[in-house]
Formats: sequence, C-alpha cells, structure tokens
Amino acid sequence: MTFKDLHIISMKDFSRDMIDHILNPAEKLEPIARGMEKSDLLDGKVLSLLFFEPSTRTRMSFETAMIRLGGQVLNLGSLEATSIAKGETLADTIRVVGGYSDAIVLRHPKEGSARMASELVSVPIINGGDGAGHHPTQTFLDLYTIRRESHMDNVKIALAGDLKYGRTVHSLCYALSLYGAEITLVSPKELRMPDEIITDLKTCDIKVTQADSIEEVISNVEVLYVTRIQKERFPDPAEYQKVASSLLITPQLLKKANPELKIMHPLPRANEIDPRVDKTEHACYFKQSFYGVPIRMALLSLIMGALE
Ligand code: CP
Repeated sequence: MTFKDLHIISMKDFSRDMIDHILNPAEKLEPIARGMEKSDLLDGKVLSLLFFEPSTRTRMSFETAMIRLGGQVLNLGSLEATSIAKGETLADTIRVVGGYSDAIVLRHPKEGSARMASELVSVPIINGGDGAGHHPTQTFLDLYTIRRESHMDNVKIALAGDLKYGRTVHSLCYALSLYGAEITLVSPKELRMPDEIITDLKTCDIKVTQADSIEEVISNVEVLYVTRIQKERFPDPAEYQKVASSLLITPQLLKKANPELKIMHPLPRANEIDPRVDKTEHACYFKQSFYGVPIRMALLSLIMGALE
C-alpha cells in the first residue's frame, strides 16, 4: 500500500487497512512529536496551509508536525493580506500554491472545496474541514485517541451533543463502523443524527441505539464523545439553555460513570464539559488534541513519500 501523493478528502475513501496504515506509524513518531527525539524525515519538504476559516488545533498541529520532522510551512495568513482580497478565485489560489508546496492543507466553508482543489493540482490536498462536509484528519486523531486511551475493536461509545451539524461525528461514525463499535447517539431532538447516516450505519451491521440523556448511558459506555452545541442553532435562547444543561458533563454525573470511561471532545468546547472534569482520569480531550501531532506527522510522511 502506498499513500504517496494521495489526496485526503473524506473518510469514505478509507478502508480499515488504510486507516491502520496511518495509525501504526503515528505511535512510533510520538517521541518526536513530544520533542524527546529529533528527526529530519521531511527535510526539504514544504507544506502550505490555506485556512479560510478560524482554527487553532488543525492549523497549529500541522505546523508542529512539519517543524518536528524538519520540514517548512507556508501559511497563507490573513486573507486581507493576499490577492484573494483583490478577487483572486480559490481555484487560481490553489493552482499557484500547488507550485510552491509538496502538499496543501485547505480549510474552507464551502462543502466540496477540497475535492474541487484535488482536481486542480497534482500535489496532495488535505481537507482540513469543508463546511458541513468532512474533516478526515480529525477522525484519524479521534481513532488514534480511542486506540491509545481505550480500545478500538467493538468499543462501546456514546456520541453526544450536536449530531446533526457536527461534521466530526459523521465521519467518526462511519470509521467506527469499520471496527464493529456499539454506538449510542445522545442528542436533543433538534440536533439528531441525520436519518441517512443512521441508515448507512445499520447497513454496516453494527449496533446503533438512541438515548435521551447522558445519564442513561454513562455507566455502560467506554468512550463518551462530546461535541459543541452552537447557540446560534436555537432561535430561542431559553431552549438553548435547556438543551445545553441537559447535556452538561459534571463531576456529579461522573459518579455514575464506568470507571474506565474516557471523555473526548474535538474542541473548542463551549459549555458542554464542566472545567472541574479536566482533573479527572476520565478527561481525554487535551491528550486528544496532542495526538493530532503524531497522526499528522504520520500522514504527511506517508503522502510526501518519506514513509512507506
Ligand atoms: N478540532 C478542530 O478542528 O479544532 P480547530 O477548529 O481549532 O482546528
């Protein structure tokens, strides 16, 4: 299997073998990601970051991954300082930057933008999030976190929060189905997982159930994956408050938890997790954001041909 020059657009393009091909080297690269060992694996390579939407983790973990492996990063920076402010199209920007780099990470609000970009250039495009579409490198690091902190095969996982608009949970569900996960979906009725995704999951022959509250499932599940609920989805602020408090993770709620429970969140969080939970053994979300570095190191090394 070779990943050299592969575009990374959607989890639907990845089999279980392909996912494992990224997760396996990530573990070996962890000491480099932590700065405990040095590497020049990507010496001479250039990664361009084109972010048309805000980001902390995705942008900075890609930068860290390149720097730790001896490569260089070109950052488009603020759009006002580029020729996009003069009306240059996304397509032309991609063609130009493709000539400066060995790979491009693109985050753009328009669904399908990364796929479109991949048809314009021969250097690999990595989808860093395309609107409500996909964010595959988030899913790779989520899977890696589950593997490192819990276990992958037949894991009992609850996905809670905004399951309607949250692109990370859509991709994660699909990937978990490849590992025989038992999935429980916990969300208010306004933010339920779209029916077509539930139907897709059921055809994969995995167990998918729905629950109304985290309290119902917390003693049973091994992983609780929480997503941000966006206030602006609710026309009535009182309705938002009701939903937000029904899904809040507190130390009190955790008294009923499976002792092995790991809590994940792609971050940024709003009010879903009480900060007092951060100190507990259950909290995994800051480790999860760190795991973005070794995962992205592995992925960049594979698509730039530095690893087989
Ligand atoms: N999880 C995630 O994609 O975070 P950023 O939006 O900060 O990149």
